[in-house]
Amino acid sequence: MTSKIAVIGFGNIAKAIITPLFDKKLLNPKDVYCLVNTKKSLENIRKNYKYDINILQANSKGSEIIWDCKVKLLSVKPQQLKNIIELEKNKNNNLLVSILAGVSLEKLIKKFPNHKCVRVVTNIPITIGKGLTGISWGDEITKDQKQFIKRLFENSSKIYDFPEDLLDIFLSVTSSGPAIIALIIEALSDGGLSGGLQKKLSEELVVEMILGTVSLIKETNLTTAELKNMVTSPGGTTISALRVLENRSLRSALIEAIVSASNRSKEFH
Ligand SMILES: NC(=O)c1ccc[n+]([C@@H]2O[C@H](COP(=O)([O-])OP(=O)(O)OC[C@H]3O[C@@H](n4cnc5c(N)ncnc54)[C@H](OP(=O)(O)O)[C@@H]3O)[C@@H](O)[C@H]2O)c1
Repeated sequence: MTSKIAVIGFGNIAKAIITPLFDKKLLNPKDVYCLVNTKKSLENIRKNYKYDINILQANSKGSEIIWDCKVKLLSVKPQQLKNIIELEKNKNNNLLVSILAGVSLEKLIKKFPNHKCVRVVTNIPITIGKGLTGISWGDEITKDQKQFIKRLFENSSKIYDFPEDLLDIFLSVTSSGPAIIALIIEALSDGGLSGGLQKKLSEELVVEMILGTVSLIKETNLTTAELKNMVTSPGGTTISALRVLENRSLRSALIEAIVSASNRSKEFH
C-alpha cells in the first residue's frame, strides 16, 4: 500500500483498523497522518502508541497536511462530524472512507464535495481482529480504489458489500448484537448465581458454553432448529426452560430489538 493516508480521529476503532496494517508491514507509519482533537490524546499517542506515526492536533499549525493525502479514513464520533471542515486542496480523485455509524453517503457527499465517499460499518470485535465490516460504495469508485479500501479492513475483519439501504440492519445485527449478547451472558450468569454458583465461575461457564455452541454450529453446519432438538428431550429440563422463554416472548423481544436499532440508525441519516 503506497498511498499516504490521513486518519481523521485516531481513536479506538481507527487504531484497531490501522495497527494490524503496521504489524504486517502493509503500511509504513511514516505514510500515515493522524489527527486527534485534544492535546491529551496527542501526547498519549506520542508516548504510548507502539508506532512512530505523524500525529497532529486538529486546528494546530501544519495539521492541514492531512488534506494533502489522497485517502482519508474518517473515524470521529458522529456528533464530532460538524467540527470537520473539508479543506479544498487536490480536487481530483480524493477518497474519503467514513466509519461513522448512521451517517449516510448523501450527508458525506454534501460535507465533502471534493471527495468520492465510501460508507463503512464495522463492529467492536474489530479491536481483536474479529470484526464484521459492511461497505457501501459511493459513485465512481474505481476497481483499484475498492481493492485498496478492502485491504484496509481485511486484516481486522470479514468484509461484506452492501447496498446502502441494508447498512442500517447490518449495523443493528453486528454492532448492537455484541451488547445484546453481553446482556444475555450477564442474565444467564445471574441464573447460575441464583442456583448457587460463584459469579465468576458462572460467567466463565456461560461464555465457554456460548463459544462451544457457536463452534458446534459452525463446524457441523447443524441448523439452529436441529441443535435445539438435539438437546431437548420430552418432558426434560431444556423444554422446561424454553417454555419459560416462549411465555415471556424472548424470541419476539430479540426480533423487535434488532428492528428497533435499525430504525434508530435510519433516524441519524
Ligand atoms: N465504538 C464502537 O463500538 C464502534 C464500532 C464501530 C464503529 N464505530 C464508529 O467509529 C467511530 C469512532 O469511534 P471510536 O469508538 O473509535 O471513538 P473514539 O475512540 O472516541 O475516537 C474518536 C477520535 O476522534 C478524535 N476527534 C474528535 N474530534 C475531532 C476533530 N474535530 N478533529 C480531529 N479528530 C477529532 C478524537 O480525539 P480526542 O481523543 O482528542 O478527543 C479521537 O481520537 C464512530 O463514528 C463510531 O460510530 C464505533
